Amino acid sequence: MSTEALAPFRGRQPFAMVSDLVVPGALDLDADDRLWVPQAPDVAFRPLLLSPSQGYFVNLLRVRRSGVLSRHRHAGPVHSFTLRGRWHYLEHDWEATEGGYAFEPPGETHTLVVPDGVAEMITLFHVTGSYVYVDPDGRATGYEDVFTKIENARRHYAEIGLGAERVEEFLR
Ligand SMILES: [Fe+2]
Repeated sequence: MSTEALAPFRGRQPFAMVSDLVVPGALDLDADDRLWVPQAPDVAFRPLLLSPSQGYFVNLLRVRRSGVLSRHRHAGPVHSFTLRGRWHYLEHDWEATEGGYAFEPPGETHTLVVPDGVAEMITLFHVTGSYVYVDPDGRATGYEDVFTKIENARRHYAEIGLGAERVEEFLR
């Protein structure tokens, strides 16, 4: 191969480009429990990327109980990759299983269930926009978005002594 073919890009990266983000061991699901932010009893998330400028976030969601987790409506698209355990939506007959990918369209309302017998579910979710917690008739009861994720992580990291600023490593 010629030296030109092997040469790194010699130009400048564009002004205002944000820096890249690398999370070593992102799939080491049992590492450093301090990074997992409690969200509800037996439910926690570990941020990988939190984007206030683009309004999306990428996180690992870990659930250590079975039953209905939440019913919610998505304003934006969701990409999920199930890493451990399994889960499903009451509104669909498919089941998300380990190693499987699923796309959730903007506008959909669904009810997430972790079935009995699953001790732990961990799924990577890439969530754009907000999702609104709703009752069975669609009435809003609460919401999540990248900003609630950032606030929760800041509070948790401060409480356990990592420092609220620890969240900044995930911001892009
Ligand atoms: Fe969802």
